[in-house]
Amino acid sequence: MKIEIPRYIEVFGAAQINEVQRVYELDSGVTSEVPAENVGTVRDIGKDVMNDIEQRMAIVVSTKNEKLRLLDGVMSGIPHDCLIIVVSNSTRKPIDRYKNEMELVKQFNKFVQRKVIMIHQRDPGLAKALREVGYTDILQGRYVRNGKGEGALVGLVLAKLAKKDYVGFVDADNFIPGAVHEYVKNFNSGFSMASSPYSMVRISWLYKPTVIETGFYFSRWGRINEYTNKYLNRLISSHSGFGTEIIKTGNSGEYAMSMKLAELLAFSSGSSVDPYTMLNLLEAFGPSNPINNKEVREKGVQIYQIETRNPHIHVDKGDEHLANMLLSSIGIIYHSRICSDALRKVMIDELIASGLIKKGVTPPNPPTMRPTKNLNFKTLQEFLEINAKTLVTMGEASTQNQAPS
Ligand code: GDD
Repeated sequence: MKIEIPRYIEVFGAAQINEVQRVYELDSGVTSEVPAENVGTVRDIGKDVMNDIEQRMAIVVSTKNEKLRLLDGVMSGIPHDCLIIVVSNSTRKPIDRYKNEMELVKQFNKFVQRKVIMIHQRDPGLAKALREVGYTDILQGRYVRNGKGEGALVGLVLAKLAKKDYVGFVDADNFIPGAVHEYVKNFNSGFSMASSPYSMVRISWLYKPTVIETGFYFSRWGRINEYTNKYLNRLISSHSGFGTEIIKTGNSGEYAMSMKLAELLAFSSGSSVDPYTMLNLLEAFGPSNPINNKEVREKGVQIYQIETRNPHIHVDKGDEHLANMLLSSIGIIYHSRICSDALRKVMIDELIASGLIKKGVTPPNPPTMRPTKNLNFKTLQEFLEINAKTLVTMGEASTQNQAPS
């Protein structure tokens, strides 16, 4: 991949946020070589470097009642050497959609023979294992809570158990397998540029049409990103004293982290998880927080935002879904401990003025789940192996339950 080097970097405490970077070539050949005259403007990331990172990466696919063809397409786009982790919250009654997903993945793997792990988010055995290690933050009664953020966290835990160095997240409702392929390449290019072991790569889409029965529709989803980015940027400005528009990927649902960073971050519930991975990074490593981790203090945390060449085309789930996503995304910023009262007032005034919330109502405060770094992973694995009946591994991903025949 040939990609421009970041032209501008915003520094926020230990966090270094790079401006959006443009991809020039999706495939730039086998090895990484840049002609001398271009050294200061582009980076060339060859297949050798890409492949090395892919072998050390897990891609978590979150799915809830998506069409099997979409899940199949998404998996086909993930480079072969990455471990695929499917975390499903699909309904099991009256039709067992998870069983159908397992059949699909098994069939897929007959042809491609790769490493895949699957689990159902509402498996009581999963909840039992998490309770055993004291991670009740994610639980609701006998189960892991519903929500995309909870699914992502389960995926992160499985990636850690599989001893991966990088973990990426992609949605299952993507119509373009080639776009998914590109996201993973974009993740790799970001990681290959990082000098710190604590890094995050977020996808910025050039086009975001959605598909409806009559064709393409440029959905209002853009508005959610607009608000989330605006408030995250204002949050940075309120601390630095300088206006900024550095954050362009606040609502990106596709991002990846080095495991060293992922396990230091808290996650949040539902769709607020996408902005929260960025927000929590600002909370944890920004100027107002003492950073105890010496390596983080010295090496910093690097965030890359990479603009895709493929359009992002996903399922349009309607206005109510978008309104909920907007409110939870804004809510998580509104309730942040680094959000000033002045910014909260601006947010409320703007949301009331645009009809998104009523006077006297405050945005929701989605639950958060503390960082996973100090969990007892050995015990967690033992309990998962014994109790999680929906946990399935294919290929040589690990030693847990084998795929059903
Ligand atoms: N495991 C799991 N558990 N997955 C879930 C759950 C859940 O409870 N809820 C939703 N998902 C899956 C969906 O099946 C889909 O693959 C993905 O998570 C995204 O969830 P949606 O709630 O459908 O969001 P969206 O597609 O409208 O929005 C997404 O894409 C936007 C841009 O394309 C989100 O990722 C946004 O943050 C993003 O901006």
